[in-house]
Amino acid sequence: MTPVLELRDVALRHRGSAVDAVKDISLAVEAGHSLALVGESGAGKTTLLRLLLGLARPTAGTVRFDGAELSLRDREQMRRFRRSVQCVFQDPYSSLDPRRRVGAVVAEPLRSLGIDTRSSAVPKVAAALDRVGLPADAMDRYPHEFSGGQRQRIAIARATVCRPRVLLADEPVSALDVTTRVKVVDLLAELKQEQGLTLVMVSHDLSVVASLCERTAVLEHGHVVEQGDTAQVLGHPAHPYTRRLIDSVPRLPA
Ligand SMILES: Nc1ncnc2c1ncn2[C@@H]1O[C@H](COP(=O)(O)OP(=O)(O)OP(=O)(O)O)[C@@H](O)[C@H]1O
Ligand SMILES: [Mg+2]
Repeated sequence: MTPVLELRDVALRHRGSAVDAVKDISLAVEAGHSLALVGESGAGKTTLLRLLLGLARPTAGTVRFDGAELSLRDREQMRRFRRSVQCVFQDPYSSLDPRRRVGAVVAEPLRSLGIDTRSSAVPKVAAALDRVGLPADAMDRYPHEFSGGQRQRIAIARATVCRPRVLLADEPVSALDVTTRVKVVDLLAELKQEQGLTLVMVSHDLSVVASLCERTAVLEHGHVVEQGDTAQVLGHPAHPYTRRLIDSVPRLPA
């Protein structure tokens, strides 16, 4: 099956930098097989998400969407891409426009993709808020009136309102307290189950990775050192770096 998203031999060097932030990256995101990107801080996880989102352009290699090279100039392809691939950023406090009401924030993808008018978007926004467990009257309020967990739900409602096939999420639960984290993880699991959503997720929390993603890629200093089935990678790591990563996870004393 053709992957929805694919990186082929991708490298990215930031302007002014002497080294590649990521290098020799080949990864495929298959529909229905959620992928986790793990690795320590600075390993290149966010850089890979930005490449997959078309927000950064590779200095070598190609980013492919539905089997064709992603081209920012191809307007028809970009439209399909933006409808199919949405994202949720790490920080629920800064990722929502504070000047706009939640209704307008969540409706934004429908409006900018030209799918809906302000009024025809309303029932879809209400349904998206309902799916993430927020009441319809949340539409009339501002993001600052919500808690961190609720804001992350609003961000997920915005990202899923146009029913994307793939959701890219950068540490979607790391800013949340433990109880709220569980609720957001349950929500993501539900969206996978009910909407057939494919997740590409960056997370430091390996238990979250294990519960949500069928596949895992391990990054060290801009290189993928290991990738494959999550149970295999986390249960029987082949690379010493993966083993160190797993051993560094704090555990409650037995
Ligand atoms: N805009 C930029 N300009 C220059 N270098 C950058 C830029 N963004 C990231 N980098 C560098 O690229 C490397 C990878 O960064 P990246 O943000 O992808 O790491 P990460 O794995 O997401 O880390 P974290 O877990 O801390 O979020 C780092 O060495 C970082 O310093
Ligand atoms: Mg990051």
